Amino acid sequence: EVTKEFTANLPKAELHLHIEGTLEPELKLKLAQRNHIDIGQSTIEEVQKTYDYDDLASFLAVYYPAMNVLQKEEDFYELAFAYLKRAAANNVRHVEIFFDPQAHTSRGIAFETVINGLYRAVVDARALNVDAALIMCFLRDFSKESARKTLLEALPYKDKFIGIGLDSDEHNNPPLKFARQYEDAAAEGLHLTAHCDIDQKDSIEHIRQALEIMGVERLDHGTNIVEDPDLVQFAAKNQIGLTSCPLSNGFVSPEMKGKEILELLAQDVKVSLHSDDPAYFGGYIGDNYYQLADQFALTKEQVVQLAKNSFETSWISQEKKDIYL
Ligand code: ADE
Ligand code: ZN
Repeated sequence: EVTKEFTANLPKAELHLHIEGTLEPELKLKLAQRNHIDIGQSTIEEVQKTYDYDDLASFLAVYYPAMNVLQKEEDFYELAFAYLKRAAANNVRHVEIFFDPQAHTSRGIAFETVINGLYRAVVDARALNVDAALIMCFLRDFSKESARKTLLEALPYKDKFIGIGLDSDEHNNPPLKFARQYEDAAAEGLHLTAHCDIDQKDSIEHIRQALEIMGVERLDHGTNIVEDPDLVQFAAKNQIGLTSCPLSNGFVSPEMKGKEILELLAQDVKVSLHSDDPAYFGGYIGDNYYQLADQFALTKEQVVQLAKNSFETSWISQEKKDIYL
C-alpha cells in the first residue's frame, strides 16, 4: 500500500511547476501591501473565495490579475525562494521552473527584474540541497511577434535558463504558431517543451505538431495522446516525457486522468507527476503523488516508476541522473 509517508519520502524531480502558480494567499497579501497594490481582497479567506474555476480559461482569469503584486526583483526572489523551501520539504531534488516573462513585461516590469530575481533564488537553492533551473514560457494567446521579441530579449540571459515552453490559453493557439521561435531556441542549444493541455478542442493535432514538427522533448500534460496509438508509439520510442498534473486535471475536468496515466505507464511512455500551479490547485508535488496513488490504487512499483521517469526525462546531466535511476 502506498502511504502518504512513502510518497513524501520518495526523491522526486519537479518538471511542471509555474512559479507564478506558487503565489500563496499569504504572500499575495503581503506583497500587495508592500507594493501598495489594491487586489480587491484583504484577507486570506477573501483571496481563497476568488479561487473559483472549472476550466483553463476561468482559471487563467483569476491567475493573471494576481501577478500584479509582483513588482520588484526582490518580490520574484521571495516568491521563488519560498517555493524552493517547500520543494526541499517535499523531497524534490531537482526542479525545472516555468516562468512567464510576458505576464510581467506586458504590465511594465522589465525582463531583467523577473529573471534576476528568480535566478538568484535558483542559486540560493543549492544551500537547500535542491538543484534548480528555469524554463522560459511563451504565452500562446499572445502574438508570435511578441514571442519573438521575448526570445530576443531573453537571449542575453541564456546562461540563466535551460529551455523554452509554451503555456496559457491553448484554444485556437496551436504549437505551430511558434515554430520559428522553437527552431531558433533549439539552434541556441535550449531545450524544448510545450503544454498540450488536457481535453482541448484540437488536442491530438497539437500533440502531433509539437512532437513531429517542432521536436519537443517533453509534453506538459499531453495525456490525450492515449487516443492515438501511433503517437503513443512515437512517444515511447523517443522517450518523450509527459508531465501530468493530477490535482490540476481534477480542477479542469471531472477527474485526475488516472486511467490515462496508468495506460501510458503500461505502454512504457515516460509519464511523470507534477503540481502545475500548487497554490491554486490544492497541493504540492507530494499531494499529487499521494492523491493519485490513493484514488487509483497505484502499486509502489508504479509510483517509483513515475518518480524515475521524472529524473529520466529531466534536463540534468547523465551523471546526476545516474544518482537517482
Ligand atoms: N499557466 C499556468 N498553468 C497553466 C496550465 N495548466 N495550462 C496552461 N497555462 C498555464
Ligand atoms: Zn502548466
